[in-house]
Amino acid sequence: MSSASYKWDSKSYEKNASFVFKYGEDLLSLLDPKQGENILDIGCGTGVLTKKIEQTGAKVIGIDSSEDMIESACKLGLKVYTGYAEHMNYNSEFDAVFSNATLHWIKDQKSLIDAVYKSLKKSGRFVAEFGGKGNVNAVRSALHESFKKRGIDPLKIDPWYFPDKAEYKSLLEEKGFFVEFIELFNRPTLLDGDIEEGWLNIFCKNFLNIISEEERDEFIKELVTVLKPELCDKNGKWTIDYVRIKIKATKQ
Ligand code: BEZ
Repeated sequence: MSSASYKWDSKSYEKNASFVFKYGEDLLSLLDPKQGENILDIGCGTGVLTKKIEQTGAKVIGIDSSEDMIESACKLGLKVYTGYAEHMNYNSEFDAVFSNATLHWIKDQKSLIDAVYKSLKKSGRFVAEFGGKGNVNAVRSALHESFKKRGIDPLKIDPWYFPDKAEYKSLLEEKGFFVEFIELFNRPTLLDGDIEEGWLNIFCKNFLNIISEEERDEFIKELVTVLKPELCDKNGKWTIDYVRIKIKATKQ
Protein backbone atom coordinates (compact mmCIF):
# COMPACT_ATOMS: atom_id res chain seq x y z
CA MET A 1 0.00 0.00 0.00
CA SER A 2 2.85 2.29 0.40
CA SER A 3 5.75 3.53 -1.62
CA ALA A 4 9.19 4.98 -1.66
CA SER A 5 9.85 8.26 0.18
CA TYR A 6 6.27 8.54 1.36
CA LYS A 7 5.46 9.20 5.01
CA TRP A 8 2.43 7.08 5.87
CA ASP A 9 0.32 7.40 8.98
CA SER A 10 -1.02 3.91 9.72
CA LYS A 11 -3.65 5.14 12.20
CA SER A 12 -5.18 7.62 9.78
CA TYR A 13 -4.98 4.99 7.02
CA GLU A 14 -6.89 2.40 9.06
CA LYS A 15 -9.46 5.00 10.15
CA ASN A 16 -10.18 6.51 6.72
CA ALA A 17 -9.20 3.95 4.11
CA SER A 18 -11.04 0.81 5.22
CA PHE A 19 -12.34 0.51 1.64
CA VAL A 20 -8.84 -0.63 0.64
CA PHE A 21 -9.16 -3.81 2.73
CA LYS A 22 -12.83 -4.29 1.88
CA TYR A 23 -12.15 -4.36 -1.85
CA GLY A 24 -8.94 -6.31 -1.28
CA GLU A 25 -11.00 -9.24 -0.01
CA ASP A 26 -12.26 -9.89 -3.56
CA LEU A 27 -8.66 -10.16 -4.66
CA LEU A 28 -8.04 -12.82 -2.02
CA SER A 29 -10.48 -15.09 -3.80
CA LEU A 30 -8.48 -14.69 -7.01
CA LEU A 31 -5.32 -15.53 -5.04
CA ASP A 32 -7.01 -18.61 -3.52
CA PRO A 33 -4.28 -19.28 -0.92
CA LYS A 34 -3.79 -22.86 0.19
CA GLN A 35 -2.61 -24.44 3.43
CA GLY A 36 1.21 -24.65 3.55
CA GLU A 37 1.84 -22.39 0.55
CA ASN A 38 4.56 -19.73 0.75
CA ILE A 39 3.08 -16.37 -0.14
CA LEU A 40 4.59 -12.89 -0.39
CA ASP A 41 2.36 -9.84 0.19
CA ILE A 42 3.81 -6.72 -1.49
CA GLY A 43 2.63 -3.50 0.16
CA CYS A 44 1.20 -5.32 3.16
CA GLY A 45 0.47 -2.03 4.95
CA THR A 46 -1.02 -2.58 8.41
CA GLY A 47 -1.35 -6.30 7.67
CA VAL A 48 -5.14 -6.66 7.52
CA LEU A 49 -5.13 -8.78 4.34
CA THR A 50 -1.80 -10.43 5.20
CA LYS A 51 -3.47 -11.79 8.33
CA LYS A 52 -6.37 -13.13 6.28
CA ILE A 53 -3.94 -14.95 4.00
CA GLU A 54 -2.19 -16.41 7.05
CA GLN A 55 -5.51 -17.60 8.47
CA THR A 56 -5.93 -19.91 5.46
CA GLY A 57 -2.90 -21.88 6.68
CA ALA A 58 -0.48 -20.34 4.18
CA LYS A 59 2.94 -19.09 5.33
CA VAL A 60 3.02 -15.42 4.47
CA ILE A 61 5.71 -12.74 4.45
CA GLY A 62 4.76 -9.07 4.07
CA ILE A 63 6.91 -6.26 2.71
CA ASP A 64 6.13 -2.55 2.85
CA SER A 65 8.25 0.56 2.38
CA SER A 66 6.69 2.31 5.37
CA GLU A 67 8.14 1.68 8.84
CA ASP A 68 4.98 3.00 10.44
CA MET A 69 2.81 0.51 8.53
CA ILE A 70 5.20 -2.34 9.35
CA GLU A 71 5.11 -1.46 13.06
CA SER A 72 1.32 -1.85 12.98
CA ALA A 73 1.49 -5.10 11.01
CA CYS A 74 4.02 -6.51 13.54
CA LYS A 75 1.42 -6.06 16.27
CA LEU A 76 -0.72 -8.68 14.48
CA GLY A 77 2.13 -11.17 14.95
CA LEU A 78 2.94 -11.28 11.24
CA LYS A 79 6.28 -11.93 9.57
CA VAL A 80 6.77 -8.56 7.86
CA TYR A 81 9.62 -6.20 7.09
CA THR A 82 10.36 -2.76 5.68
CA GLY A 83 11.72 -2.78 2.14
CA TYR A 84 11.15 -1.92 -1.50
CA ALA A 85 9.60 -4.62 -3.65
CA GLU A 86 11.53 -3.55 -6.74
CA HIS A 87 14.81 -4.18 -4.86
CA MET A 88 13.99 -7.53 -3.25
CA ASN A 89 16.13 -10.51 -4.11
CA TYR A 90 14.22 -13.74 -3.55
CA ASN A 91 14.93 -16.79 -5.66
CA SER A 92 12.13 -19.28 -6.46
CA GLU A 93 10.74 -19.11 -2.92
CA PHE A 94 7.05 -18.35 -3.31
CA ASP A 95 4.01 -20.22 -4.60
CA ALA A 96 2.28 -16.88 -5.04
CA VAL A 97 2.96 -13.15 -4.88
CA PHE A 98 0.01 -10.97 -3.89
CA SER A 99 -0.39 -7.19 -3.99
CA ASN A 100 -3.40 -4.98 -3.30
CA ALA A 101 -3.48 -1.22 -4.01
CA THR A 102 0.29 -0.76 -4.07
CA LEU A 103 1.93 -1.24 -7.46
CA HIS A 104 0.84 2.18 -8.79
CA TRP A 105 3.36 3.71 -6.36
CA ILE A 106 6.26 1.97 -8.11
CA LYS A 107 7.67 3.80 -11.13
CA ASP A 108 10.33 1.21 -11.95
CA GLN A 109 7.93 -1.53 -13.05
CA LYS A 110 10.56 -3.42 -15.00
CA SER A 111 12.63 -4.02 -11.86
CA LEU A 112 9.49 -4.86 -9.92
CA ILE A 113 8.30 -7.45 -12.44
CA ASP A 114 11.84 -8.93 -12.65
CA ALA A 115 11.97 -9.24 -8.86
CA VAL A 116 8.49 -10.79 -8.63
CA TYR A 117 9.25 -13.27 -11.42
CA LYS A 118 12.52 -14.30 -9.80
CA SER A 119 10.86 -14.70 -6.40
CA LEU A 120 8.27 -17.18 -7.70
CA LYS A 121 8.61 -20.95 -8.03
CA LYS A 122 7.87 -22.39 -11.48
CA SER A 123 4.11 -22.11 -12.17
CA GLY A 124 3.85 -19.70 -9.24
CA ARG A 125 1.16 -17.05 -9.53
CA PHE A 126 1.25 -13.26 -9.38
CA VAL A 127 -2.10 -11.80 -8.32
CA ALA A 128 -2.43 -8.03 -8.06
CA GLU A 129 -4.80 -5.12 -8.23
CA PHE A 130 -3.81 -1.47 -8.47
CA GLY A 131 -4.68 1.81 -10.20
CA GLY A 132 -5.14 1.51 -13.97
CA LYS A 133 -5.31 4.05 -16.77
CA GLY A 134 -7.64 6.92 -15.86
CA ASN A 135 -7.44 6.20 -12.13
CA VAL A 136 -8.37 9.15 -9.87
CA ASN A 137 -8.44 11.36 -12.95
CA ALA A 138 -10.54 14.12 -11.41
CA VAL A 139 -8.21 14.54 -8.43
CA ARG A 140 -5.06 14.12 -10.48
CA SER A 141 -6.15 16.73 -13.04
CA ALA A 142 -7.14 19.20 -10.32
CA LEU A 143 -3.77 18.72 -8.61
CA HIS A 144 -1.89 19.17 -11.88
CA GLU A 145 -3.82 22.35 -12.72
CA SER A 146 -3.19 23.83 -9.25
CA PHE A 147 0.55 23.20 -9.59
CA LYS A 148 0.73 24.57 -13.13
CA LYS A 149 -0.98 27.75 -11.89
CA ARG A 150 1.87 28.12 -9.38
CA GLY A 151 4.55 27.58 -12.01
CA ILE A 152 5.42 24.05 -10.81
CA ASP A 153 5.65 21.14 -13.27
CA PRO A 154 3.31 18.48 -11.81
CA LEU A 155 4.90 15.69 -13.82
CA LYS A 156 8.08 16.09 -11.76
CA ILE A 157 6.23 15.34 -8.51
CA ASP A 158 3.44 13.00 -9.59
CA PRO A 159 4.33 9.63 -7.99
CA TRP A 160 1.73 7.43 -9.71
CA TYR A 161 1.88 4.82 -12.47
CA PHE A 162 -1.51 3.86 -13.93
CA PRO A 163 -1.02 1.59 -16.98
CA ASP A 164 -3.59 0.37 -19.46
CA LYS A 165 -4.23 -3.32 -20.02
CA ALA A 166 -2.16 -3.75 -23.20
CA GLU A 167 0.88 -2.00 -21.70
CA TYR A 168 0.89 -4.07 -18.51
CA LYS A 169 0.17 -7.33 -20.32
CA SER A 170 3.23 -6.78 -22.55
CA LEU A 171 5.44 -5.95 -19.58
CA LEU A 172 4.43 -9.23 -17.94
CA GLU A 173 4.78 -11.25 -21.13
CA GLU A 174 8.15 -9.73 -21.98
CA LYS A 175 9.40 -11.11 -18.65
CA GLY A 176 7.99 -14.56 -19.40
CA PHE A 177 4.74 -14.54 -17.45
CA PHE A 178 1.66 -16.22 -18.89
CA VAL A 179 -1.19 -13.74 -18.34
CA GLU A 180 -4.24 -15.78 -17.35
CA PHE A 181 -6.40 -12.81 -16.55
CA ILE A 182 -6.17 -9.03 -16.92
CA GLU A 183 -9.02 -6.60 -16.51
CA LEU A 184 -9.41 -2.79 -16.38
CA PHE A 185 -12.60 -1.51 -14.76
CA ASN A 186 -14.13 1.52 -13.10
CA ARG A 187 -14.67 1.24 -9.37
CA PRO A 188 -16.09 4.49 -8.01
CA THR A 189 -15.23 4.42 -4.32
CA LEU A 190 -17.28 6.04 -1.60
CA LEU A 191 -15.16 7.61 1.12
CA ASP A 192 -15.83 7.12 4.82
CA GLY A 193 -15.19 10.79 5.50
CA ASP A 194 -14.58 14.02 3.64
CA ILE A 195 -12.06 14.29 0.83
CA GLU A 196 -9.56 16.38 2.78
CA GLU A 197 -9.09 14.10 5.77
CA GLY A 198 -10.28 10.92 4.07
CA TRP A 199 -8.17 11.08 0.92
CA LEU A 200 -6.01 14.14 0.14
CA ASN A 201 -4.17 14.11 3.46
CA ILE A 202 -3.53 10.37 3.23
CA PHE A 203 -2.71 9.78 -0.43
CA CYS A 204 -1.50 13.12 -1.80
CA LYS A 205 1.35 13.95 0.53
CA ASN A 206 3.88 13.96 -2.32
CA PHE A 207 1.91 16.83 -3.78
CA LEU A 208 0.86 18.65 -0.61
CA ASN A 209 4.33 18.66 0.95
CA ILE A 210 5.59 20.79 -1.94
CA ILE A 211 3.31 23.60 -0.77
CA SER A 212 4.51 25.63 2.21
CA GLU A 213 2.60 25.07 5.46
CA GLU A 214 1.27 28.64 5.37
CA GLU A 215 -0.27 28.12 1.93
CA ARG A 216 -1.43 24.54 2.32
CA ASP A 217 -4.91 25.17 3.75
CA GLU A 218 -5.66 27.58 0.92
CA PHE A 219 -4.32 25.09 -1.64
CA ILE A 220 -6.53 22.29 -0.28
CA LYS A 221 -9.56 24.61 -0.16
CA GLU A 222 -9.01 25.40 -3.83
CA LEU A 223 -8.84 21.69 -4.71
CA VAL A 224 -11.99 20.90 -2.74
CA THR A 225 -13.88 23.69 -4.53
CA VAL A 226 -12.84 22.37 -7.95
CA LEU A 227 -13.65 18.74 -7.08
CA LYS A 228 -16.93 19.21 -5.25
CA PRO A 229 -19.26 19.43 -8.28
CA GLU A 230 -17.79 16.24 -9.75
CA LEU A 231 -17.14 14.05 -6.72
CA CYS A 232 -19.47 15.15 -3.91
CA ASP A 233 -23.19 14.38 -3.82
CA LYS A 234 -25.95 16.53 -2.33
CA ASN A 235 -25.62 14.74 1.03
CA GLY A 236 -21.95 15.67 1.28
CA LYS A 237 -20.71 12.14 0.43
CA TRP A 238 -17.50 11.97 -1.59
CA THR A 239 -16.80 9.32 -4.22
CA ILE A 240 -13.35 8.98 -5.81
CA ASP A 241 -13.15 7.97 -9.48
CA TYR A 242 -11.04 4.85 -9.06
CA VAL A 243 -10.14 2.69 -12.07
CA ARG A 244 -8.54 -0.67 -11.26
CA ILE A 245 -6.33 -3.05 -13.15
CA LYS A 246 -6.52 -6.61 -11.89
CA ILE A 247 -4.17 -9.39 -12.99
CA LYS A 248 -3.38 -13.03 -12.53
CA ALA A 249 -0.21 -14.21 -14.24
CA THR A 250 1.87 -17.36 -13.84
CA LYS A 251 5.59 -17.99 -14.08
CA GLN A 252 6.32 -20.33 -16.98
C1 BEZ B 1 -5.27 3.71 -5.65
O1 BEZ B 1 -5.43 2.84 -4.80
O2 BEZ B 1 -5.59 3.55 -6.82
C2 BEZ B 1 -4.66 5.00 -5.29
C3 BEZ B 1 -4.66 5.40 -4.01
C4 BEZ B 1 -4.08 6.59 -3.72
C5 BEZ B 1 -3.51 7.37 -4.66
C6 BEZ B 1 -3.53 6.97 -5.94
C7 BEZ B 1 -4.11 5.78 -6.27
